[in-house]
Amino acid sequence: MCGIIGYCGPKPAAPILIEGLKRLEYRGYDSAGIAVGADGNLHVHKREGKLFRLRERVPEDLGGVWGIGHTRWATHGEVNDLNAHPHTDATNTIAVVHNGIIENFTSLKEKLQEEGYTFRTETDSEVIAHLIASLYDGDLETAVRQTVRLLKGTYGILAMHAAEPNVLVGARNGSPLVLGVGNDEMFMASDATALVAHTKQVVYIEDGELVKLTPKSYKTTDLRSREIDKKVDFISWELEEIEKGGFAHFMEKEILEQSESIKRAMQGRLDLEYGTGHLGGLNMANKELLEVERVKIIAAGTSLHAGMVAAYLLETVARIPAQAELASELRYRNPVVERNNIYFAVSQSGETADTLYAMRELKRKGARVLGICNVVGSTIPRESDGGVYIHSGPEIAVASTKAFTSQMTALYLFALIMARMRHMSLEHGLAFIKDLEQVPDLVARIVDRRGEIELLAKKYAHAGNFLFLGRGINYPVALEGALKLKEISYVHAEGYSAAEIKHGPIALINDDTPSFFVVPDNGLRDKVITNMKEVKARRGPVLALAVEGDREVAKIADDVFYVPPTHEYMYPFLMVVPFQLFAYYTAIELGRDVDQPRNLAKSVTVE
Ligand code: AGP
Ligand code: GLU
Repeated sequence: MCGIIGYCGPKPAAPILIEGLKRLEYRGYDSAGIAVGADGNLHVHKREGKLFRLRERVPEDLGGVWGIGHTRWATHGEVNDLNAHPHTDATNTIAVVHNGIIENFTSLKEKLQEEGYTFRTETDSEVIAHLIASLYDGDLETAVRQTVRLLKGTYGILAMHAAEPNVLVGARNGSPLVLGVGNDEMFMASDATALVAHTKQVVYIEDGELVKLTPKSYKTTDLRSREIDKKVDFISWELEEIEKGGFAHFMEKEILEQSESIKRAMQGRLDLEYGTGHLGGLNMANKELLEVERVKIIAAGTSLHAGMVAAYLLETVARIPAQAELASELRYRNPVVERNNIYFAVSQSGETADTLYAMRELKRKGARVLGICNVVGSTIPRESDGGVYIHSGPEIAVASTKAFTSQMTALYLFALIMARMRHMSLEHGLAFIKDLEQVPDLVARIVDRRGEIELLAKKYAHAGNFLFLGRGINYPVALEGALKLKEISYVHAEGYSAAEIKHGPIALINDDTPSFFVVPDNGLRDKVITNMKEVKARRGPVLALAVEGDREVAKIADDVFYVPPTHEYMYPFLMVVPFQLFAYYTAIELGRDVDQPRNLAKSVTVE
């Protein structure tokens, strides 16, 4: 959510800032702006809407070698040019970009107004610029430190002062900031995707830290001015991974990548001798794992759906009570933390505020929380007691696809470990591994036939409403199918257990409300077929994902997409991919902005 970028070095800053903001676009935003220092002045340009509109406004010959930039995702105040960041003080000598929410801005603003400061915008962020101005006494770093000590809420901040050329000061509490170390140049950004074109050496800034950059140096301190030694990390992925590389959209690229990304999530983590998995990052000895009596998974959105599939598997295969729950709900219900329970915080970005805050609440209560994350070095893995990186590579499209299947893969391995430690035999463990190892090829076979899904999407794109229906381990897949469709095509869709429709949703059935069923060949197949007939009897169009050879489904459904047969536990992988493709092609048919759907942000860093 929102992007921050900063540069100081020998090169013209504006193009670097705008290119950095372009890389951060995927995070979601509604307006953008930059401030560049040149000739002793700060030049601020900001504009509502997409980045190209800002670019139109920035003069080609804007000099200046240091500056800050921002893509805003409005929380306080309308989306318009004025409320866009950077914000400046009355004399335009200080410029600030801010990500997050200043919760006590009203009282700070009133106080500053009493002192004669005039506010120009409706944002909470503007208060930061005036506070720095009111506290500035010749040193920006000190003024920013004093300012953040007064702030309550979440922030990633970057500030500059016209009288201190080539100096940037950043501070963080709850909103990500990462420093990029170049050759005689320094960068600052909300995440590493904006840095990798310039440098692979990064330093993650932590909550409560302040950083001062000049082209040749950086200094990190805490809020009491004590210096902090920081480790330089190395970005392990390549620039190509965050570029479209010939695909029409990032989402298409990411859906098609899944057979590779699923493989990566299990690479080096299978133990063929003992028919089990190996997840060293959990930081738990086998003895401790054996003592686990319950597993709880917390997450939001798509990550929650991956967690729900995994919870089902953990109970069925490992016979351990397991539940997946919305992190946002758990946090505020004063959860009971029991001995011998472990928690997983599942998050692609590793920055989702709901998940992060729930995790902190659990940790305060003494829980052991493990992360299942994609973005290396993000906050959840850094604050967790251990965990697993899913290694999907950067996921740029706002709608999550490849992270979902890799999160499942990591959790499947965990379920296998737990099952093998309990009652699962070596033989069954090996069979489970064999089935899991086949998933990438089966997924590849499905995406090869994406043309069939494209035709289905064209046929049904103009329907008013959709129901996605599945049962058992595929129930969360139905929820995910509905989420994908509404996110990127804006078509109203609901996911339900197929069994549940008779308890209400069936009232929605009419000829403009297709129902998309998941029909794997497991013990629930016949029940789902009955539900399909119930819909058909009410003249609802029926689509189905079924298993090759299941002719009966074709007799009932108007349209069927067949997936190859697999073990019943592996169907969520095979069933979700056609749903992702269906949402993708529907969005294209309807002319939507597939990678950056309206109102959505990639990592939701506010509650
Ligand atoms: C996925 O398509 C969504 N954009 C969203 O629901 C997402 O899964 C959710 O915000 C959680 O994000 P995280 O995995 O980064 O924590
Ligand atoms: N709360 C600030 C605003 O509404 C910052 C939002 C953001 O993180 O982009 O301007």
